[in-house]
Amino acid sequence: MKPPIRIAVTGATGQITYSLLFRIAAGDMLGYDQPVILQLYDITEAQHVFKGTVMELNDCAFPLLKQIITTDNLEIAFGDADIALLVGARPRGENMERKDLLAANGSIFIQQGKMLNAVAKKNIKILVVGNPANTNAWIALKNAPDLDPRNFSSMLRLDHNRALSQVAQKVNAPVSEVKRIIVWGNHSSTQFPDLSHALVKDQKALSLINDPNWIEGSFIPTIQDRGAAIIKARQGKSSAASAANAIINHMQDWIFGTKENDWVSMGVISTGCYDIPSGLFYGFPVTCSNGQYKIVEGLEINPSNYKRMQKSYQELITEQGMIQ
Ligand code: NAD
Ligand code: LMR
Repeated sequence: MKPPIRIAVTGATGQITYSLLFRIAAGDMLGYDQPVILQLYDITEAQHVFKGTVMELNDCAFPLLKQIITTDNLEIAFGDADIALLVGARPRGENMERKDLLAANGSIFIQQGKMLNAVAKKNIKILVVGNPANTNAWIALKNAPDLDPRNFSSMLRLDHNRALSQVAQKVNAPVSEVKRIIVWGNHSSTQFPDLSHALVKDQKALSLINDPNWIEGSFIPTIQDRGAAIIKARQGKSSAASAANAIINHMQDWIFGTKENDWVSMGVISTGCYDIPSGLFYGFPVTCSNGQYKIVEGLEINPSNYKRMQKSYQELITEQGMIQ
């Protein structure tokens, strides 16, 4: 039996985590031979909700679930953690942009960055999900000076999966045949879902789709505004099961590696490539192997797509300015 991996999850009584915890405990994220310890954090006012969650986790009799810790103390939640899934934060309601949450949520990530720095394992892998995810990841990183910036990531995978699904439906192909989609930028309505390099059954997706009006008038706005459309369709509640699934996919690829000939979109610290200045969290195409991600560099970008990528970058700079 392998030694257990410690997974800290914040917002662990919320709606995303109600899907997420059971999938992690079942082995969907780290494999069906990997024991796990769940270190679940939520605020003091939410502690009473843990009772039912823990009862249900126990009632699943998951062979891989070695221990469940519930706490309102970040030091306990992050202590020796190998992985931190930072989900806990307020969701937006209808007619809000995700950046409107900065005032309410930004400070959460100051405290959490500091505590991760103090008590988590130095090689921890951190995924920020709470919105606005890219800027919250940046806040956490700024407060964790002893951790490598490459240990931090923000979630663009839900957007990536949404794009895969829309393309597969459009060309009537299985999702598994759609490759090399990119979601550049911020997890916001300025993100740029880019099909320029995408393949379907190893053919260029753009030629197969052969419908520029669909790309401009339907595909791009659908992906950019999908979060808001889900909130409307779910009468005020934001995506939960699909977000949990994206968390599982993101961590699985980061830890175990991406598929050959393919890449995924991850929010990672920018390095200056594609003229996105270094130091902020931006959605890039990445490949992963041996637990490390690598930005796919050198892709050709046409002038109009370059402008869209810069627009999303500018929005991230505005968000940083709002904090400072
Ligand atoms: P929810 O309201 O159901 O749960 C939020 C949880 O966060 C609650 O349990 C709450 O007690 C907890 N919380 C509140 N203050 C906290 C604090 N200071 N520290 C830690 N936890 C705290 O919300 P949800 O639907 O689970 O969504 C959680 C977040 O994830 C939201 O910000 C949402 O917008 C975001 N989200 C991001 C993506 C993405 O793709 N990046 C996708 C879906 C949702
Ligand atoms: C999503 O993309 O579904 C989430 O970020 C929730 C939201 O506020 O849109």
